Amino acid sequence: MSDKAYAVTPEWAGRAWIDDAKYQALYERSISDPEGFWGETGRRLDWIRPYTKVKDTTFGPGEVSIKWFEDGTLNVAANCIDRHLATKGDQVAIIWEGDDPSKDETITYSQLHERVCKFANVLKAHGVKKGDRVTIYLPMIPEAAYAMLACARIGAVHSIVFAGFSPDSLAGRIDDADSHFVITADEGLRGGKTVPLKKNTDEALERCTKGGGKVLVVRRTGNPVPFKDGRDLWLHDELAKVDADCPPVEVGAEDPLFILYTSGSTGKPKGVLHTTGGYLLYASITHQYVFDYHDGDIYWCTADVGWVTGHSYIVYGPLANGGTTLMFEGVPTYPSPSRFWDVVDKWSVNVFYTAPTAIRSLMGAGDDHVTKSSRASLRLLGSVGEPINPEAWEWYHRVVGEDRCPIVDTWWQTETGGILITPLPGAIAQKPGSATLPFFGVRPQLVDDKGTPLEGAAQGNLVLLDSWPGQARTLYGDHDRFVQTYFSTYPGTYFTGDGCRRDEDGYYWITGRVDDVINVSGHRMGTAEVESALVTHPKVSEAAVVGYPHDLKGQGIYCYVTLNTGEEPSDDLKKELVKHVRHEIGPIASPDIVQFAPGLPKTRSGKIMRRILRKIAEDEFSALGDTSTLADPSVVDDLISNRQNRK
Ligand code: WTA
Repeated sequence: MSDKAYAVTPEWAGRAWIDDAKYQALYERSISDPEGFWGETGRRLDWIRPYTKVKDTTFGPGEVSIKWFEDGTLNVAANCIDRHLATKGDQVAIIWEGDDPSKDETITYSQLHERVCKFANVLKAHGVKKGDRVTIYLPMIPEAAYAMLACARIGAVHSIVFAGFSPDSLAGRIDDADSHFVITADEGLRGGKTVPLKKNTDEALERCTKGGGKVLVVRRTGNPVPFKDGRDLWLHDELAKVDADCPPVEVGAEDPLFILYTSGSTGKPKGVLHTTGGYLLYASITHQYVFDYHDGDIYWCTADVGWVTGHSYIVYGPLANGGTTLMFEGVPTYPSPSRFWDVVDKWSVNVFYTAPTAIRSLMGAGDDHVTKSSRASLRLLGSVGEPINPEAWEWYHRVVGEDRCPIVDTWWQTETGGILITPLPGAIAQKPGSATLPFFGVRPQLVDDKGTPLEGAAQGNLVLLDSWPGQARTLYGDHDRFVQTYFSTYPGTYFTGDGCRRDEDGYYWITGRVDDVINVSGHRMGTAEVESALVTHPKVSEAAVVGYPHDLKGQGIYCYVTLNTGEEPSDDLKKELVKHVRHEIGPIASPDIVQFAPGLPKTRSGKIMRRILRKIAEDEFSALGDTSTLADPSVVDDLISNRQNRK
């Protein structure tokens, strides 16, 4: 094996669900006989009407259609709750750890059942039915999981909007999903600070042109919030009016389960649509094998339910497996940078799954914050969201995991529904920085810019040759955009948007996005969205946004801004623009660097040459390449002499 590798220990090979021999055999089978493999695996779920068809998928060219288990019916909430009641009614399903370390709660499967049924009855009482879209704008409180499962129980489609998004972003998502029911809280609480969720929702609804409707409000902080009679409902009042009897609705495997908006390289965020059967199966099987989940394990994924990681690996995967999942309301550094490890010790967490950006920031805070905790319960560590640099990987392994915990570096996307490339801890030796090898049924390929397949050790664009059950089926209301975005660049394949290298051992190393999507602290952001936000400022005439390497965040947001004639650049205006973007999109989109630019490098046909802007943002302007096609090559000199990121 080339590069530094951490071999699977005999202990792990012995204890894990999947060892090397099983991985080889099952992977081979999943590729040569997907019908057989998934047909058998699909039985891990409880079906109301069992499927007779397994896979009916085509990636084009031409029509793109993805169907799994299409004649089967099931209910996701019944799979995540009801079927565990007989054996695990008193087992804890959800551990909730509040922002304030003195606040926590444990919820057993029986309690979860009762609360989800009542929640679902509240939705029904207000007219929500199968197929309706429900927008959820909640902090990390148990009600977020209840709301998701309540929707699933009655066949409604949830669309969760991360609670850090602005009223404008929320309004766009409510409208696009044509959603007429919103679930929010009075306020959120993170790192000791409140987040005005109800106020944001009110503002969003004022801006909605299509969606809107009723607002169901969870009392979280209890601080006074405006209330609109006839539209707004307190959850606690509504719960008092309903009983706990709510039979799960029969749902088709290909009926939608949820929509989740994510950023693309152009235009508005895309409503990625996941359906019921294949998604749940894939979330469940990956959760079991990748995290080597066994009954009784305490599992903690630090993501937020506003992102896909929270959907698949806080709620659906772990609960489908009858697991105990920890839900954390707070942030890694509050009240101190020891918080993660304090929580690990408090609940004896066995499996811990987080993002490289958190690892890097905790690494910066010093080892003492880690070493003063015990962490003896930890057995396995995971990473997701962006490439993990080898230094952070080694620190995570050595300091957090005391050299005894394997690390699963899991590569996947909102569109993939679940993990596609990852080590399996009992089967695959890990190399720091590599997501290693494909999961069952996943067929990665590297292609050059023309789409020619690259064999052996190579670097190129990552595509997938065949479907897997967790794959997104479409973009809500816009199948053409789905086809255009993912299946037209390299016809007949799903294009991930990621660059990737494959080494001599066949290991995959994701190198980052090759499109105009940037990854800031593990959050996906379209540069076009930040540009649109900037140009709504009255003083801005034009803007171009690129990513640049950032020590903590992975990538930072670098904005080139051209002001309207007569406007003066100033530091105050820079601050104002940063505030403006935060207000338009949300704090996760805060620009790191603003550079005023009298002109942007454009081709004669008016296309901005981002390659040049990226190089200048990276302070690599000696390698600008050919600039002769620019309409006005002199703008480049000004951009270079005023560059803001000098190393
Ligand atoms: C990046 C998050 C390298 C990648 C689950 C992908 C990663 C995008 C990894 C999807 C990883 C995610 N190594 N890069 N282990 N995991 N990415 O939709 O660029 O928020 O395309 O899904 O994150 O981000 P998304």
